[in-house]
Amino acid sequence: MGNMITENGKTFYLRGKNYAYVMCVGKAEYLQHLYYGAAIRESDAVYLAEKVGSAQDALCADGGRDVCTNELWSEYPSYGRGDYHEPCVLIRRGDGAVMSRFRYLSYKIEKGAPNVEGLPHARAGDETLTVALKDDFSATEIYLHYIVRESSDVLVRYAEIRNTGREAVSLCRAFSFALDLPDHKFSLLRLHGNPTAERTPELSPLGHGVTKLQSLRGASSHQTNPFAALLGESVSEMAGECYGVQLLYSGSWSITAEVSNNDTLRLQGGINDTAFNWKLNAGETFVTPQVALSYSSEGLGGLSRGYADFLRECVIDPKRVLVERPVLVNNWEATYFDFSYEKLFPIIDEAANLGIDTFVLDDGWFGKRNWDDSSLGDWFLNTEKLPQGLTPLIERCKKNELKFGLWFEPEMISENSELYRAHPDWAIGKSGQLSIRGRHQLTLDFTRKEVVDYVFEAMRNILGENEISYVKWDMNRSMSEFYSNDLPAERQGEFTHRYILGVYDLAERLTTAFPDVFFEGCASGGGRFDAGMLYYFPQIWTSDNTDAYDRARIQWGTSYCYPVSAMSCHVSACPNHQTGRTIPFSTRGAIASLGATGYELDLSKLSDEEKHAVKEQIISYKKIQSLILNGDLFRLSNPFETDLFCEMLVSKDKSQAYVVCERLRAQPNGYKKDCFVRLFGLDEQKLYRIEESGITASGSVLVHFGVPVPHLYEYESFCWHIREMTT
Ligand code: DGJ
Repeated sequence: MGNMITENGKTFYLRGKNYAYVMCVGKAEYLQHLYYGAAIRESDAVYLAEKVGSAQDALCADGGRDVCTNELWSEYPSYGRGDYHEPCVLIRRGDGAVMSRFRYLSYKIEKGAPNVEGLPHARAGDETLTVALKDDFSATEIYLHYIVRESSDVLVRYAEIRNTGREAVSLCRAFSFALDLPDHKFSLLRLHGNPTAERTPELSPLGHGVTKLQSLRGASSHQTNPFAALLGESVSEMAGECYGVQLLYSGSWSITAEVSNNDTLRLQGGINDTAFNWKLNAGETFVTPQVALSYSSEGLGGLSRGYADFLRECVIDPKRVLVERPVLVNNWEATYFDFSYEKLFPIIDEAANLGIDTFVLDDGWFGKRNWDDSSLGDWFLNTEKLPQGLTPLIERCKKNELKFGLWFEPEMISENSELYRAHPDWAIGKSGQLSIRGRHQLTLDFTRKEVVDYVFEAMRNILGENEISYVKWDMNRSMSEFYSNDLPAERQGEFTHRYILGVYDLAERLTTAFPDVFFEGCASGGGRFDAGMLYYFPQIWTSDNTDAYDRARIQWGTSYCYPVSAMSCHVSACPNHQTGRTIPFSTRGAIASLGATGYELDLSKLSDEEKHAVKEQIISYKKIQSLILNGDLFRLSNPFETDLFCEMLVSKDKSQAYVVCERLRAQPNGYKKDCFVRLFGLDEQKLYRIEESGITASGSVLVHFGVPVPHLYEYESFCWHIREMTT
């Protein structure tokens, strides 16, 4: 059975690379959690079942069927039968009662990972354990799925809830997982933020009661990322125990951590249940989004590398994940809406001259769009601005051997658009009632198939009629008025989840219809940077903030749970349009090289020196492509805690590494902090050479002592290419 065993179908032991996860079925037939942490032996599962499982049974007295289950560590807790912590599932029956008691029914173990239609999911797994539970009171069954890979620290979970009765029930909550841990001596790490300051790490102690991270915006959001980590005492980048939770979901979500009066900790999460209500008719099944749980004993760095591998190996489209990323120039910050062939041709010509691969035309090419107050939904050419359409631009690119990319915002509608005039009810919100605008726009009702079909056809026409190799999929507002003019009253509570299913449907159809097109996600920068979107789009515009000081921090936070290959990072003009800061061109290039790199400025206005720098940056970037696509990231100096940002990418065989350092605050003479950086991640047995400085040293001294950081003035940086020396 490889990494799953069961003792008479009563004890389940799951084993990944460095962790074990154990559950058992107790005397009262509840599915009880026993252990999640560092790998223990199979035989220990029986010990745990005896010692922990039976102690819990005893708490439930007399087999526990008729006493409260508050002290039980439950794999999927329900409501109304004496467990007074937050439940995972709330089911309202036809008679109005909300009480469930799920008990063990059966299990099965299958090879591989299930294909979950319509939702992002782990595409690979060695084995999947499914445990079926049955409610004593409502005719519902729950199937808990656990997907394990022997080579991974990530355990994927999700649940299916099936109505096996004759009358409809309502799901008022249907989370993806629950995890009961025996103690709460962890700090909670969250990634909070704002547009232009996405994914800022924050660590806080866990107090008693419920701590809730969430988004109510219809998207995973800039404000909090659907990720959390529990850090044990004295966790560093390289050492210490931590657990991660990452939802494969892009809509409104929540993750809660509840410390009980007995000091146990329950972690759970999934679809946000505010106003959620899913009608489950007889015979129907509801599938929750998946969650990727992870355990690391190698600190936060180990947790991040485990997630990066998991996303690259199991989530991101295998046809696109390792594709060499185009180095592109995007015209947004060069021209905003005010462009013409005359303005764009010099950018294209210069791009070719500098070694750039792709030109991307951003917002403003369609309908009558000259500002952000019109035309969303009118996906046909703005012939006032571009009288001969896209063809002259595409031809110019072809002549210069560049590829052409195009911006869309598929989910939105402007009131000043032909689409809105024809279909005002396609906007979300109750017809006739004033809706809140975000960036002057309304959101299309993606719960309606006809709307998704319309957008698919419109985009298919543009992509089919023009030679387009790259699509930037933007989404520029948080949702409000969660209401469809098409759904019946009793299904309005399904709106937000149905909306995101519509987004996934369109993404699936387009990426399938255009297998050679490379897609980039975007939501006013990083407002929907999550594993759900990464399932469809291999990279995401990390932030609208391109200032290399702020970007160092944003990319640092983003790397806690996403690979650098997923982060789209551009060099832009200075003074920076978002912050007014001026940072050397070389530093802007260095920070942008830690991801899918590109340029976002008017190349034709660069000085000769800057043009030379672009050429050099691209040559150097192409040499590290394999590290960007598949390297391991080591975060060496924390820009939130020190005046130095430093990260290193190391090849899997540890023969090659790339280091980027930026001085964030000047250090006058005599100030001796951060003057050495330890190159964790190198092989201690190997000998290395730093190409730029000529330093040669053993891996062990570079890891345990480090290298002197050259003197840098404020915002200056350096990049090092490190190679194993072969004698
Ligand atoms: C927000 C994106 O983040 C920007 O890069 C740009 O595409 C604008 N939208 C265009 O409206």
